[in-house]
Amino acid sequence: MNNAENDLYLRALRGETVERTPIWVMRQAGRYLPEYRAVRAQAGDFLTLCKTPELACEVTMQPIDRFGLDAAILFSDILTIPDAMGLELVLEEGVGPVFNKPVRSAADISKLSVPDMHQDLGYVMDAVGVIRKELNGRVPLIGFTGSPWTLASYMVEGSGSKDFRRIKGLMFESPDDAHALLQVVTTSVIQYLDAQVKAGAQSLMVFDTWGGMLSTTNYQYFSLAYMQQIVDASKAAHPDVPIVLFTKGGGQWLEMMAATGCDGLGLDWTVDIAAARKRVGEQVVLQGNMDPVVMNTGTQQVQDEAAKVLAAYGHHSESDKGHIFNLGHGIQPFAEPENMAALVDTVKQQSQQYHS
Ligand code: CP3
Repeated sequence: MNNAENDLYLRALRGETVERTPIWVMRQAGRYLPEYRAVRAQAGDFLTLCKTPELACEVTMQPIDRFGLDAAILFSDILTIPDAMGLELVLEEGVGPVFNKPVRSAADISKLSVPDMHQDLGYVMDAVGVIRKELNGRVPLIGFTGSPWTLASYMVEGSGSKDFRRIKGLMFESPDDAHALLQVVTTSVIQYLDAQVKAGAQSLMVFDTWGGMLSTTNYQYFSLAYMQQIVDASKAAHPDVPIVLFTKGGGQWLEMMAATGCDGLGLDWTVDIAAARKRVGEQVVLQGNMDPVVMNTGTQQVQDEAAKVLAAYGHHSESDKGHIFNLGHGIQPFAEPENMAALVDTVKQQSQQYHS
């Protein structure tokens, strides 16, 4: 490893002692950046951008070049798996993701099969390879997936949802069918993450965006149990590749999540990070958790709120695994790019005092 290489993020995820808090930001390559909007316009639409490895690489690099973040995240989407299963993903302007062929019956579920990771999702693995080459060791590359519950929610609802009545209807009325759907998605996710690691991904993150919509018992049976399979498979195949679980709205379940054997937990902004540290800080690295909406306000507010998150985690110690700075959810299209520069500078400078 030469001096130009920054592996702070991976060292922090392994729970090693580091000189400052690393930072990356969910959705760091996205519409708040004018250079992202330009490449997306060049691609024509979001899915073509995802499916063209050179362009996916270009937008992955944009926030790294501009802000000096400590990790890159593959530019893609969690909905690539259902798209590859034949549900036909379209991203409608102002609406969000929509499937032309949602899963609506037991017969639909029984027709689903695990996609071929190279034939059907080869563009993702190609993007990982191109990005690793372009990064040339500058910062580590994060691969990712949606959680089975979150993917199944989109597959059954056919789009985003406010009440999740279709997927929850399936869960309550036909739990065996729900489990069959979750299992085929889980098997796909396991192969997807394995292929990403083989292509060059150096750490993994599971986005369980909708797990927080469940009751505690249903969270355990319909979301966490499947993330457990993913952690087990990933640890068996790639014991040295760290894996982070993020259930949005999952703050009350941190102990159960940490017990999966994952390396880190993403925290949304509703979680008190000081309390989370007391609960699970000896077992897992905590990643988060500034309210993303702060990024739409003034630079002073960004600096103040970032300092509060760092202070709330507090001084790092040998007995605790540590903190990686992030927002509590993705940065929004309305965010000011200058605020990202201010955020990165604040974390890099202010965090040093907590690492002595
Ligand atoms: O974090 C990153 O920078 C990596 C790229 C990434 C995207 N989506 C790019 C994207 C990642 C990790 C995701 C994950 C994802 N996608 C999640 C889980 C995380 C979360 O946000 O909770 C979910 C639920 C999705 C599904 C999805 N994809 C939605 C709801 C949308 C529409 C969002 C919107 O604001 O309209 C997308 C599209 C999407 N994925 C965009 C980006 C940059 C916007 C596309 C565009 O219009 O250019």
